[in-house]
Amino acid sequence: LSVAETRRRLLAWYDKSARSLPWRAPPGAHRRADPYHVWLSEVMLQQTTVPHATPYFLKFLATWPTVADLSAAPDEAVMAAWAGLGYYARARNLLACARAVAALPGAAFPDTEEALRALPGVGAYTAAAVAAIAFDRAANVVDGNVERVMARLYAVEEALPAGKPALKALAAGLVTGERPGDWAQALMDLGATVCRPKAPQCEACPLAGGCAARATGAPESYPRKQAK
Ligand code: ADE
Repeated sequence: LSVAETRRRLLAWYDKSARSLPWRAPPGAHRRADPYHVWLSEVMLQQTTVPHATPYFLKFLATWPTVADLSAAPDEAVMAAWAGLGYYARARNLLACARAVAALPGAAFPDTEEALRALPGVGAYTAAAVAAIAFDRAANVVDGNVERVMARLYAVEEALPAGKPALKALAAGLVTGERPGDWAQALMDLGATVCRPKAPQCEACPLAGGCAARATGAPESYPRKQAK
C-alpha cells in the first residue's frame, strides 16, 4: 500500500471505529482535545491500560478541573489520588509539570513538541502525543502499539529493543500535516483492539491487504524479540 492509501484506509477505519474515550475529541469534531486532558491521560496511560486508567482520569478531572487547580493541590492529595496507578515518581513529575505549566502565561500548555519536551517529566513520547492530539502538530507518536503495527505492516526482521529506531522511522514515514492527532490515535487504537500482541484480528484490520506480516502467515511473530 502507498503512504496515501495506508493513511486513507486507517483514517476511514478510525472515523467509524474510534474508541470513545473521555479525553478525546470525537473524530471529525471541529474542536481539539484539551491539552490538560491529553497530557493527564497520556501520563496515566504510560502506566496502565485504558480501562484501568479511565476512572482515575475522571476522578482527577472532577477534583482538579484545570491544570491550575492541579498545580495548587497539596502533594499528599495528588499522591493519594494516584494510589493504584503505581510508580509514584510519575505522580511527583505530574505535579512538577502542572506547577511549571501554571507558571506560564495564561497557565497554558506550550503548543510545540520542543517546548513541551522542556517541561519536567515530559519525555519524547508525551511531548509528541500532546503536540499531535491537542495541537494538531505533525508529531510522530510512537508507543508499543505503534511499534507493533509498524513491525507487522512492514514485516521488520530487526528485533526489539534494538529495532526501535527503525520502527520509529517507518512510523515517521506515515505522518503528514493532515489530521495528525487522529492519525496517532488511529494507530494506537488499531494496535490496542485489532493488531493485538496475541491473536491479532486480521479479518477486522483495514490494512490487512497490505500487511507483510500477515502475508507470512504468522503475524503474531512480529515484532521479533531479542533473546534476553
Ligand atoms: N494509549 C495511550 N494513549 C492513547 C490514546 N490517546 N488513545 C488510545 N490509546 C492510547
